[in-house]
Amino acid sequence: MMPQEGIFHSPGAFSGLAVLRLTRNAALPQLREVVSSIHEELSATQGLRMVLGLEPALLPESPTQPALLPREGPTARFPSSQAHVLVQMSTCERELLLCALRRVLALSKGVLYLEEELLGGRIGVGREPFGFRDGLLKPTREQVRRTAIVPSGPLAGASWLLYLRFQQDLDLFNHLRTQAQERVVGRTREGELVVDAPAEAHILRARASGAGENQLLIRRGFPFRHGGEEGLAFLAASADPDGYRRALDALLGADGQTPDAMLRYATAVGGGLYLAPPRGWFHCPAQQERRPAHEGIGPGL
Ligand code: HEM
Repeated sequence: MMPQEGIFHSPGAFSGLAVLRLTRNAALPQLREVVSSIHEELSATQGLRMVLGLEPALLPESPTQPALLPREGPTARFPSSQAHVLVQMSTCERELLLCALRRVLALSKGVLYLEEELLGGRIGVGREPFGFRDGLLKPTREQVRRTAIVPSGPLAGASWLLYLRFQQDLDLFNHLRTQAQERVVGRTREGELVVDAPAEAHILRARASGAGENQLLIRRGFPFRHGGEEGLAFLAASADPDGYRRALDALLGADGQTPDAMLRYATAVGGGLYLAPPRGWFHCPAQQERRPAHEGIGPGL
């Protein structure tokens, strides 16, 4: 089964996401129709990259597992604001992004309502709000396929998406001298490795979980500014939600590990785990039923 094409592309100059919830009276087949129309229209729009994820419990093929969020460590917490649908979009033109967000809302009318919307995009050459270069090790298509796409079984071609909305305390971080900031991240502002970085440095914590060099997850987040709040919409794609468990626990300092120094300056205020079905899933249910079950994700909703 073919994965959603957007998973292979890093966010462009302009990025946005919409988090939606089912309205009280909506039936599940209506949801499938709505998300299929959103996917069909937006994935065919030139210059727009999109990924659409659903709450995993909405897909019967998704294995039951302990909730990923909320998670807690000795000094920080990753809360849950799990909803039903997440759509991430990125473009090179702001107008296209705005049109796409409007279309998501128009197509969802009566079935889904908007719970959260974030607009953001690239800062300079690609910096996160603290001013550090981000997204340095660009994944190849092959790395994305290996790390982010479920290879076989009933979820073949699907991808697990993690969303965390971080508020970054720029004032607090800017009180640190440049060298101290670089020891928090584990890289210089321009992206060079800090050779004697402490174990609590962000990239060392991420690497301790096995997530370094695009191994456990593919990052596709973007910086935003919204109502005076600045931060990172952290988004990632992975073939295995257990990789997220390991990565988040390593940052939180769970089970006696060292907590990530970055979490003193960045606070997660919401997030959720979503499952991005493969492209074929978005056909109308009638077409799905004609396909043999062994072809991957079944009729679902
Ligand atoms: C506000 C929150 C965050 C900020 C500001 C942030 C910032 C950064 C920066 C500046 C880098 C170095 C540049 C680069 O390697 O591209 C980095 C690397 C990385 N971050 Fe984060 N990050 C945040 C949250 C997270 C979270 C929640 C995770 C995992 C769940 C994560 C996983 C990683 C990984 C895997 C790397 C690359 C490590 C490597 O291969 O060397 N980050 N992050």
